[in-house]
Amino acid sequence: MNKNEILKNRDLDVLWHPCTQMKDHESLPLTPIKKGYGVYLEDFEGNKFIDGISSWWVNLFGHSNSYINEKVKEQLDTLEHVILAGFTQEPIIRLSERLVKLTPNGLDKCFYADNGSSAVEVALKMSFHAHKNDGKLKDTFVSLKNSYHGETIGALSVGDVELYKDTYEPLLIKTIQTAVPKDMSIEEAKKAGVEFEKLCQEKADKLSAIILEPLVQGAGYMHMYHPHFLEIVREVCTKYDVHLIADEVMVGFGRTGYMFACESANITPDFLVLSKGITGGYLPLSVVLTTNDIYAKFYCDYNEHKAFLHSHSYTGNALACSAANATLDIFENENIIEKNKEKSAYMLEKLKKFEKLDNVKSIRQTGMISVVELDGYKPEERIGLKVYQYGLKNGVLLRPLGHIVYFMPPYIITYEEIDKMMDTAYEAITKL
Ligand SMILES: Cc1ncc(COP(=O)(O)O)c(C=O)c1O
Repeated sequence: MNKNEILKNRDLDVLWHPCTQMKDHESLPLTPIKKGYGVYLEDFEGNKFIDGISSWWVNLFGHSNSYINEKVKEQLDTLEHVILAGFTQEPIIRLSERLVKLTPNGLDKCFYADNGSSAVEVALKMSFHAHKNDGKLKDTFVSLKNSYHGETIGALSVGDVELYKDTYEPLLIKTIQTAVPKDMSIEEAKKAGVEFEKLCQEKADKLSAIILEPLVQGAGYMHMYHPHFLEIVREVCTKYDVHLIADEVMVGFGRTGYMFACESANITPDFLVLSKGITGGYLPLSVVLTTNDIYAKFYCDYNEHKAFLHSHSYTGNALACSAANATLDIFENENIIEKNKEKSAYMLEKLKKFEKLDNVKSIRQTGMISVVELDGYKPEERIGLKVYQYGLKNGVLLRPLGHIVYFMPPYIITYEEIDKMMDTAYEAITKL
């Protein structure tokens, strides 16, 4: 038995994988990875795969990036981790100063957690608690139809993708879903805005916050909408004293063509939630940025209000912060956002070829996210799985969301690698 086979067997004896029906692995082999470099992942037999989904949307500058490696190694020899209550360290101070500068004006305080879902929980609790400290009991959250914000109980409660949510419905807190713009047009953005304002007119005294994924709903089948919707929501939130939580866990750090998607509408949310790309895909870290105004609502004598009591053991881990600082160095030094524009335009050209296929319903793109929506298949046909398997056989990791085939590669992907990634997907779709 070769090493690939040995590892597959050892794995299945002891592991339970995320987002997986484990019985599928009776026929669908696992892929043990020996090493990663650039956009490539390589198994123990020397087979290489282009990571077309940035390993669940986290990797920005390739696997084993030499610069990030060097910075994490430096940190490793100095301080790996220290409790963040009562103590601090230089990497987290530097990171926070940089995030405050980089994010929309008015976001001045950073509160850390260690994954996207936990940061969503932080934002929800902080919003509720801030109103409470103002003497208001606003206990209802609003989110958009078709949204995804993670899978812990609170985050799942504000999500709206049936696949993840319906089993746990009896456990979840009640939330309200308002319309997401139906497509990328400004007209649909306006219509959805009207619906949100109507909801606020009726219920604003109970509404703590609206949480949304700016521009692209990731796990909601890569649904995209016009930035004007963000402008409207910002205005309505201010008018009715409802917080705006921008969940940029997926879209933050350049994915949409802006460093942060809120820039597309020139808005400042009350809470900005970041994770995934923050460490370049190296280590778990997340952060909620908020305003000095919200911060001030908690700043008082010990007995006046309760402090914000939310803590995770690994909050603000120093190694993760050093990876995040290295990631920001690369953005700063290598003009990434500009360079991505050319790559994104190149991918859009290639995307147009898919549109002509009979089994393709539409294509769409926002920044470094390119999408092909397939048409005419039933869920039980598991069409995405077929594309995934074809991709693996031909050296590309694609992981369609049902009938949505998408490309979200690390930003360091070359034009030749884009060709290989998208041509392989094209072949897979023509062979369905
Ligand atoms: C928009 C959004 N929010 C939150 C999350 C949850 O992040 P995590 O998987 O790190 O818990 C995700 C994960 O995909 C996401 O896409």
